[in-house]
Amino acid sequence: MTRILVTGARGAVGTHVVRELTHAATVRTWSHDAGPLRQAMDGIDRVYLCAADGPGKVHAETAIIDAAAEQGVERIVKLSALHADPASPLPAHRWHGEIEAHLRRSGVPAVILRPAFFMTNLLMVAESVARTGTLHAPTDGRRTAMIDIRDVAAVAAVTLLDEGHAGRSYDLTGPAAVTFTEVAAALTEATGFPVRFADLTEEQARPRFENAGLPDWLATQLSGVFALIRAGGFEHTTGHVEALTGRPARDITGFAQDFVSAFTPARVAL
Ligand SMILES: NC(=O)c1ccc[n+]([C@@H]2O[C@H](COP(=O)([O-])OP(=O)(O)OC[C@H]3O[C@@H](n4cnc5c(N)ncnc54)[C@H](OP(=O)(O)O)[C@@H]3O)[C@@H](O)[C@H]2O)c1
Repeated sequence: MTRILVTGARGAVGTHVVRELTHAATVRTWSHDAGPLRQAMDGIDRVYLCAADGPGKVHAETAIIDAAAEQGVERIVKLSALHADPASPLPAHRWHGEIEAHLRRSGVPAVILRPAFFMTNLLMVAESVARTGTLHAPTDGRRTAMIDIRDVAAVAAVTLLDEGHAGRSYDLTGPAAVTFTEVAAALTEATGFPVRFADLTEEQARPRFENAGLPDWLATQLSGVFALIRAGGFEHTTGHVEALTGRPARDITGFAQDFVSAFTPARVAL
C-alpha cells in the first residue's frame, strides 16, 4: 500500500484527510510538535502538506517540502487557497503563494488544492447568530462559492491516492455561489429560529475585525477576504469536487443541518 504522511493531522481538514485515507493507504501522521521530520518522512511515498496559518507558516511548510525532497518523496498534495499569490496583500494568500513557489522549485511532483471560502468560517460567528438571530458580514450582496472542508479532504485523498494529478492545480468550490441572505435562510430552516442577514459597509465592519481580539494578521486576512468577496472574487464555481470524488459537492443547506446545534439559541430553562 502507498505510504502517506499527513501533516497538520490534528487540523480541521487534516482530521478528515486521515479518515478518508485510512482504508486505502498506510497512513502516518505528523504533528508540528511531534519531533524529527526526517524520521517521519522515512519510507514515505506521498505527503499531505498543511501547517497552521500564522507568521510561522512559510517556515513550517518549506521545512516539510525540503525534508520530502531530500527523501525522494514522489508527490506532495498542498492545501493552498484560492487567490494564493506571493504578491497578495492578504497574509495567508501571500504565505500560500510563497510556499507554492518553493514547492515548484523543490522539483517534487505536486498537486495544489486552492479551495474558496470554507463553510466552517461561519462557525466563528455561530454564537453571535444564535444569540442575536442576525448574521453580519460586509458582502455588498455578492455571492460566495463556499466549500465544505469534508469535500476539500475528499479531494486531497483522491489526489494523494490516484495517478494523473501531479502538476495540476485545482480551484475548489461548493456546488453554488450563495449570498449571505441565502446562508441566513439555510440557518433559519435548519434551526427553526429566524436568522436575518445584515449586510455591513466596509466602514461598519472594520472595527468589528479590529476589536475582535484577533492577531493583526488574521484581522487583515478576514477583512481582505470580504473585500475580495465584494469584488466578486469568490463568485466562480468549479466542478472539480464532483469530478474528482464522484459525489456532488456538499451545499450550504446540508452544512447548516450538520452544524445546527452551533447556531441554535440555547433553550431557556423554565
Ligand atoms: N478558512 C478558509 O476559508 C480557507 C480557505 C482556503 C484555504 N484555507 C487554508 O486552509 C488551511 C487551514 O486548514 P485547516 O483548517 O485544516 O487548518 P487548521 O485546523 O488551522 O490546522 C492546521 C494544523 O497545523 C498544525 N499546526 C499548528 N501550529 C503549527 C505550527 N506552529 N507549525 C506547524 N504546524 C502547526 C496543527 O496540526 P498539528 O497539531 O497536527 O500539527 C493544526 O491543526 C490554511 O492554510 C488556510 O489558509 C482556508
